[in-house]
Amino acid sequence: MVIVSGMRATGKLHIGNFVTLEKWVELQKKSDHNFFFVADWHALTSHYDEVEIIEESTLDIIRHYLAVGLNPNQSVIFIQSAIKEHAELYLLFGMIASVSRLERIPTYKEQITNISDKDLTTLGFLGYPLLQAADILIYKGERVPVGEDQIYHIEFTREIARKFNLRYKEVFPEPEAIISNVPKLPGTDGRKMSKSYGNIINIETNEKELKEKILPMITDPARKRRTDPGNPEKCPVWDYHKVFTESQEEKEWVVKGCTTAGIGCIDCKKLLIKNMKNKMEPVWENLAKISKEDAKKIAIEGNEKARNIAKETMKEVKDAMHMRW
Ligand code: TRP
Ligand code: SF4
Repeated sequence: MVIVSGMRATGKLHIGNFVTLEKWVELQKKSDHNFFFVADWHALTSHYDEVEIIEESTLDIIRHYLAVGLNPNQSVIFIQSAIKEHAELYLLFGMIASVSRLERIPTYKEQITNISDKDLTTLGFLGYPLLQAADILIYKGERVPVGEDQIYHIEFTREIARKFNLRYKEVFPEPEAIISNVPKLPGTDGRKMSKSYGNIINIETNEKELKEKILPMITDPARKRRTDPGNPEKCPVWDYHKVFTESQEEKEWVVKGCTTAGIGCIDCKKLLIKNMKNKMEPVWENLAKISKEDAKKIAIEGNEKARNIAKETMKEVKDAMHMRW
């Protein structure tokens, strides 16, 4: 099974990304053909004015890939913009991709209407899903672990693969999304995790910061006093427990204590901090050991491997399209 996925290089990785990375590490164990990259071109489609941030976060993301457990012996770890074949395939896909189809993709429609602080009426931004299709298909990706919001892009990728195969030659598989069953983590204020809300916990943090962010977290508003019972399903702290508290007993302790006012929110948060620390401490230790230079070395090796495979696919594509020059 060929697995392909990437993350956009638009800043620091947060604990939501941590959950995704853990999933990738799990998949890596089961498959021999894994491609995990940093999508710096995708970052540029919207962050074209922040090229320094993209550069900075590209290597930082590779550090995180390694720290969480992606292994360069089991996965090809690389940087999108180092493999120009992605762009070449994107160009050729552009010949058969419908503009109105791209304009109708829900993620595009949503962002073009809601984001007002920058001009997204660019060819680059419209082509975002097409570039993603090229990222996946250039490695003949079959499974793509992504968040729920990416389903439309994978569906679009399947359409492009089908169109190409029918028109020219059977070159590409039709990839399927792997959607994680782990619930999406909200920000510390219960809203969507977002840099502009300041409600994010980065992966690269420490116990002190963790306490500073978790202890003031919003809880079920019904628990105004210690003696008021609450409902974990209305509390973002519980969403975090679902991800970081593995022991069934501890989870039951939270649910029972919350609904009967047997525990206070501070007790509940202290348990969460303990469990988050346990899970993240090895990653913090790894991050402290992995320099940007180390990450760069790994990426250069990964780029080489990715490029060789991408070149093979391009040979087939060009042959199918009668460009045998
Ligand atoms: N669009 C993806 C996201 O925002 C990132 C991405 C780019 C990607 N290319 C990809 C994911 C290819 C999977 C496969 O999360
Ligand atoms: Fe949330 Fe825990 Fe307080 Fe219940 S006890 S409201 S789950 S923080």
